[in-house]
Amino acid sequence: VRIRGAAASDADVIGSIWYSAEGALGSGLPPLAPLPWWQHLVDAADVWIAEVDGRPAGFAATLDLGPAVVLTDFFVHPDHQHQGIGTALLRQALPEERQLATLSSADPRAVASYIARGLRPRWPAFFLAGSRRLDLPGGVSVVEDDVALDGLRPSERSYLADRCGGIPGVVLRGGRAIGSVVVSPRSPFRLVGRDEGTVLLTTATTAADSGDVVHAGAAWCEQLGAPRVSVQLPGPHPALRRLLLLGYRLTDADTACATSAAVLPEPERESFWSDLLRLRT
Ligand SMILES: CC(C)(COP(=O)(O)OP(=O)(O)OC[C@H]1O[C@@H](n2cnc3c(N)ncnc32)[C@H](O)[C@@H]1OP(=O)(O)O)[C@@H](O)C(=O)NCCC(=O)NCCS
Repeated sequence: VRIRGAAASDADVIGSIWYSAEGALGSGLPPLAPLPWWQHLVDAADVWIAEVDGRPAGFAATLDLGPAVVLTDFFVHPDHQHQGIGTALLRQALPEERQLATLSSADPRAVASYIARGLRPRWPAFFLAGSRRLDLPGGVSVVEDDVALDGLRPSERSYLADRCGGIPGVVLRGGRAIGSVVVSPRSPFRLVGRDEGTVLLTTATTAADSGDVVHAGAAWCEQLGAPRVSVQLPGPHPALRRLLLLGYRLTDADTACATSAAVLPEPERESFWSDLLRLRT
């Protein structure tokens, strides 16, 4: 096994590894198409590719987000799994002296590898989806406003706004901002569910407002034309119960893991990526 750093021209290489590993999970994927995320990774992240006999066999990617290095992707081709390639990739990709965070799949090899490196499972991160024609919560409105992108790291801002077509909005109650959202009414940045909308980021000013903020973000995404909307929410987030009661359904669950809880977003107020992608001093 040889581990090498990826070049900007490796987007297709990591895409095909991802496709083989995800496909083996039996989720019935549509044909492989290039995703902007893979180009974003090779442009903005540290990406390591494992090769066996000169052929790509796995990759790991991390984003250095200041307070923490976040493992964003970790995949080994099914023909090469369970042979120590994942461990070799993590040894290269995860700096021992830094705080680390990731959103782990339920794969025991993934979770166990993170726990072994000091990342503790902190909370479940649920994925929900619904097509419910939601009304906005009473007295709440959403106004498109670039301020929702303020403070994002420049490369992440351009990924969300330019490559994902994310629309920033401020959530208001009685004329006062209670939070912000970034939504995408179509999701060409995903391989599955491209015609669905995605609530990309949500941040509430206080935990007491976070149910209304996410509910408003999902309703706004529908109003902008999404026939169905996906949202990711931490287990402790108040909007989880709200959206389930409104008819949304759970589709998947990951686990937020980190060497310190302090580097993760506040799970009652934000989604996994919301705070991590902001510049912090
Ligand atoms: C997760 C994945 C990247 C791991 O790569 P891999 O090459 O198969 O993993 P390895 O063979 O290096 O094994 C990883 C570790 O898991 C351990 N492990 C395997 N099964 C385990 C189990 N049931 N419980 C605990 N540990 C287990 C191995 O012993 C190894 O640890 P070690 O190096 O300390 O011995 C790969 O299996 C994969 O692509 N899975 C599907 C996609 C996925 O879920 N990716 C994770 C996204 S967060």
